[in-house]
Amino acid sequence: MADNAKRIPRHVAVVMDGNGRWANKRLMPRIVGHKYGVDALIGCINTCADRGIEYLTVFAFSSENWKRPEDEVSGLMNLVLTAVAKYLARLSDIGVRIQIIGDRAAVSEKVRAAWEHAERVTAGNKRITLSVAFNYGGRWDIVQACQRAVADGARAEQIDEALLSKYMALAYAPDPDLFIRTGGEVRISNFLLWQVAYSELYFTDCLWPDFDAAEIDKALADYAARDRRYGGVKTDISASGQKITLAPDA
Ligand code: IPE
Ligand code: IPE
Ligand code: MG
Repeated sequence: MADNAKRIPRHVAVVMDGNGRWANKRLMPRIVGHKYGVDALIGCINTCADRGIEYLTVFAFSSENWKRPEDEVSGLMNLVLTAVAKYLARLSDIGVRIQIIGDRAAVSEKVRAAWEHAERVTAGNKRITLSVAFNYGGRWDIVQACQRAVADGARAEQIDEALLSKYMALAYAPDPDLFIRTGGEVRISNFLLWQVAYSELYFTDCLWPDFDAAEIDKALADYAARDRRYGGVKTDISASGQKITLAPDA
């Protein structure tokens, strides 16, 4: 259906949560859940590309995740290295452009090099842009945008939403249309704060390693049925096919 095609989100943002609980349920260490989480991510990238989604932004490591036990943090860092080595060529082959968003300064040289290698190798790809939020926080993003704007000489009266948007980490992408969080928690956890102002929010109990193509399609169907008003008034299609506006009397 042509109308349905219009209802595919251009940009989907995902908080990939629930790896630890997925592993615990199977009496396995949390890091095993993260490994299966990487496989779920690869599946998700494939499905999103197939569905015509142009931008996929995933929360892989938050600026708060350093609080986790040392062995889990180092396990996650090692997982980045093995995942890049294992999947980079395959992702590049299907046209995935990889971008990293987050504070790179606090990440080890090895991990930073792996991410920057992934960015370089995939820079010319056009099918879907995968932004990996790594050592990312929504508040950090707003602060770094202000700092860079001021460093570029912006004066107080020149700072507005359009200007700051150009300095936000996702300046190259439209705002997310659909924000998904797996794992049952109903919170943002300092993911994209600025960018989700008008995103449609979708929360599911499904744990991230189980979030397969069928689950993605459920989220997309839910999104397709939403009425996005952006502060305007509800619109509906009348029986004659004419668009009517259901507005309170002005
Ligand atoms: C999300 O899964 C992945 C990361 C934060 C790296 P969790 O590790 O938070 O899994 P749960 O929430 O403990 O189940
Ligand atoms: C959010 O999940 C961060 C990532 C998925 C990378 P958390 O598991 O860290 O979030 P909280 O602690 O439940 O809010
Ligand atoms: Mg969690």
